[in-house]
Amino acid sequence: MEGISGALTLLWMVFAASQAFKIEISPDSPVMAPIGASVSLTCRATGCEAPAFSWRTQIDSPLNGKVRNAGSTSTLTMDPVSFENEHSYLCTATCGARKAERGIEVQVYSFPKDPEIHLPGPLQVGQPVTATCLVPDVYPFDRLEIDLLKDNRLLKNQEFLEPMESKSLKNMSLEVTFTPTREDMGKALVCRAMLHINEVDAELRERETTKELQVYVSPKNTTVSVSPSTRLQEGGSVTMTCASEGLPAPQILWSRKLDNGNLQPLSGNATLTLIAMRMEDSGIYVCAGVNLAGEDRKEVELLVQVRSLNFLKEEKEEEEEKQEEEKEEEEEKQEEEKEEEEEKQEEEKQEEEEKQEEEKEEEED
Ligand SMILES: *[C@@H]1O[C@H](CO)[C@@H](O)[C@H](O)[C@H]1NC(C)=O
Ligand SMILES: *[C@@H]1O[C@H](CO)[C@@H](O)[C@H](O)[C@H]1NC(C)=O
Ligand SMILES: *[C@@H]1O[C@H](CO)[C@@H](O)[C@H](O)[C@H]1NC(C)=O
Repeated sequence: MEGISGALTLLWMVFAASQAFKIEISPDSPVMAPIGASVSLTCRATGCEAPAFSWRTQIDSPLNGKVRNAGSTSTLTMDPVSFENEHSYLCTATCGARKAERGIEVQVYSFPKDPEIHLPGPLQVGQPVTATCLVPDVYPFDRLEIDLLKDNRLLKNQEFLEPMESKSLKNMSLEVTFTPTREDMGKALVCRAMLHINEVDAELRERETTKELQVYVSPKNTTVSVSPSTRLQEGGSVTMTCASEGLPAPQILWSRKLDNGNLQPLSGNATLTLIAMRMEDSGIYVCAGVNLAGEDRKEVELLVQVRSLNFLKEEKEEEEEKQEEEKEEEEEKQEEEKEEEEEKQEEEKQEEEEKQEEEKEEEED
């Protein structure tokens, strides 16, 4: 080996001394060119004063790039890189009668954006949800792998090995369904996408997006405590306190139900105090516990009654009615007794007559 390399070195020295004509091309083949970016191929000649360059593709399709020659270098710039640049390019340089040729293969790829994590709406504890990780505009997608992780634990992994039917950018996505718990609050949902192309720099092969989870419990178990009572006297006051359970803690909204069914807002405080109540304040009061996930309502009916005077009047009326009834009953009783008496007398009279009749008959015999 050493002998050969020594001999090559010697040969090179001889050639260099006689200005050997050769070309080099950079970067190294194959070139991984990101679609949409600007990529240049440089052909450099040595051993010639004024070389002439030409570029072509191996299948003689258009170059889809611009050539700039400057002294002993020629640059082919593809800006922007597209699928039409996926070729083997040949750089040819001539120096008088001498000719040198070098090929370079260009492959394109696309992995331009971080993944997007999509959730259909607010996450509710106990309700299954499907999260989607979307990796936009990928090529070649048979090199793509996606991981979905929650709280550093792998939920799902997929490699997209299906054959590619066409040269095009594709949105690739991975879905996972899970049921959020209260413990998921603040935890990280991570989507990691990897494009396995070894020729691409390691840090460009992987993209990651993190979403902090917010979980909700829609308001429930809304309760109202009323002090002193839902039946009030005119001029009195009442305090109603509303509570509702949820995550995050529901906001409390008090309102009154109008005759047309609409709600008239009253207060955003959990404790609602109503003073100097009038009869027309009677009606349905509504407490709503509200958060981002929903709403839960509780209705309370307040009845404001007119005070004392009316109570007395009502009582008097009731008393009179009772007396009236008693009197009627008494009269009815007397009536009945009278009727009974008459009946009895009638019967006695009949019996008397019958007896007399009998006696009379006996006498005749
Ligand atoms: C790909 O995803 C992007 C969002 O990043 C969207 O705007 C676009 O419409 C999608 N394209 C296709 C073909 O679905
Ligand atoms: C509703 O709240 C009450 C009082 O806080 C509690 O005792 C009860 O268990 C709750 N009910 C439900 C279904 O959460
Ligand atoms: C609600 O009312 C209570 C007592 O009236 C008061 O101390 C508190 O500051 C009020 N809260 C709000 C948010 O207005």
